[in-house]
Amino acid sequence: MDPHASSVPVEPAHPALRGLKWWQRGIIYQIYPRSFMDANGDGVGDLRGITSRLDYLASLGIAAIWLSPIFPSPMADFGYDVADYTGVDPLFGSLADFDALLEAAHARGLHVLLDLVPNHTSDQHPWFLEARSSRDNPKRDWYVWADPKENGRRPNNWLSFFGGPAWTLDEASGQYYLHQFLPQQPELNWRNPEVRAAIADAMRFWLDRGVDGFRVDVIWLLGKDEALRDEPINPDFRPGMPPHHQLLHPYTQDLPETHRYIAEMRALLDEYSARGRERTMVGEIYLPFERLVTYYGSAEAPECHMPFNFILTQTGWDARKIRAQADRYDALVGEGWPNWVLGNHDQPRVLSRFGREQARVATTLLLTLRGTPTVYYGDEIGMADVDIPPERVQDPAGLRQPGVKAASRDPERTPMQWSDADFAGFSTREPWLPLAEDYRTVNVALQDRDPNSLLNYFRALTRLRAVTPELVAGAYHSLEAGFDDVFVYTRSLEVGTVLVALNFGGAARTLHLPGLGAAGSVLLSSVRREGEVPLEALELAPHEALVVRLR
Ligand code: NOJ
Repeated sequence: MDPHASSVPVEPAHPALRGLKWWQRGIIYQIYPRSFMDANGDGVGDLRGITSRLDYLASLGIAAIWLSPIFPSPMADFGYDVADYTGVDPLFGSLADFDALLEAAHARGLHVLLDLVPNHTSDQHPWFLEARSSRDNPKRDWYVWADPKENGRRPNNWLSFFGGPAWTLDEASGQYYLHQFLPQQPELNWRNPEVRAAIADAMRFWLDRGVDGFRVDVIWLLGKDEALRDEPINPDFRPGMPPHHQLLHPYTQDLPETHRYIAEMRALLDEYSARGRERTMVGEIYLPFERLVTYYGSAEAPECHMPFNFILTQTGWDARKIRAQADRYDALVGEGWPNWVLGNHDQPRVLSRFGREQARVATTLLLTLRGTPTVYYGDEIGMADVDIPPERVQDPAGLRQPGVKAASRDPERTPMQWSDADFAGFSTREPWLPLAEDYRTVNVALQDRDPNSLLNYFRALTRLRAVTPELVAGAYHSLEAGFDDVFVYTRSLEVGTVLVALNFGGAARTLHLPGLGAAGSVLLSSVRREGEVPLEALELAPHEALVVRLR
């Protein structure tokens, strides 16, 4: 481990960056707690495990860690079924463990974001147990109930993201309840002000403890059509697609009132920011850019600080397509602060999508496009999807949708590969999901010692960001590279311009980039070149990522 590395920028923040908030300057790193580090030897990661790895996290040069849910949960959806918003599941530790983690993270300059899951609870949450106990229970209206249609049929045609209908009949009370995920994840009724107040209380609980903000789960699903109208058939549905795609979703997604609910959450965060440290909210939203950017809200009613931009998880590894998307996004974001995501706990790993030889190009793309990058744990060492034998599949989304490609999210959730020791240094026993077969050669300990490793390339990039304000705040402008497999862009501030050239392919390319000056100086290259490079005949090695300062 590099003893001098630190999560706080090596240099004092450049004057050009003054006025930017930490979440604008920094990098967010997502931890899937079950799989990061197991300190108590039960095969599942935990909070003390994360605390024990904070020096590693700080060495990455990141600004924040986001923890997928750590709250008490029956784990039907591995924590996204919350049974208590203000506690820690014993599997992960205790509230005291959390406080210790937060304090130790803050001591290293690392912010901590929690995963808020306000759209649904567990069916074991006391609120739902009360709500289902009788039709006239005061909490009944905290959830979405509907009478059966004639002949006992479901209230409408809405579908679950995990396969099957979005309604389950509660036999005892004779009504259906809504769940767009598992039947064990009943949806809260956000029309009810008591529900909104209860979630606000949960937010306060964590904000008062000192958390720096939230990633908010499926935030664009909070509002649903009050009349529960049927959703239209999707004419583009093809066999093999997830069954949820059979319908279009105008009545369950992106409803106008959702903006009001989010603005309320944001106002709460802003109260805290006004009183002290700046807090932030990142919203999970899978929508086209034109709709996505509406979730920044307005100056009078701001919403998410950053609505997640997932386009790189949904676009193939195609330099022209990615350029077109980046151009469109940058233009549409307007006054909002952009952000980029290459992978998360719901998507196949970037390495498995784009290929190992493209790992450095993909990392460079993520860390040099304009906006806050979110990195998925393990991507910094090149972890790949792991084939899970059928008898070890855990993810309910996979178990319920056999035959749908990549329905199971287990492959991208396998244990962090810390070393070549038994169980990859993650645990002292067989972990909850199988380890990758390559862990003896792809792991933190080995890469830490190897100056040419992906891990040290990642660190070099984050160090470069820390001392190159153009890469944090500079305007983005893409250039015509002259090749289908090369993506070139500049990042400019008054103080200077940096050029990023990415070779998405395996052939050497010579770029002719007129109007940029005769030569530039290499700031970083994935093939370790240094010195001056001519800009009118700029050579890119196969799979090279190159960052150059222009004069
Ligand atoms: C989105 C989360 O990222 C995913 O993992 C989860 O299964 C669903 N929301 C339901 O909470």
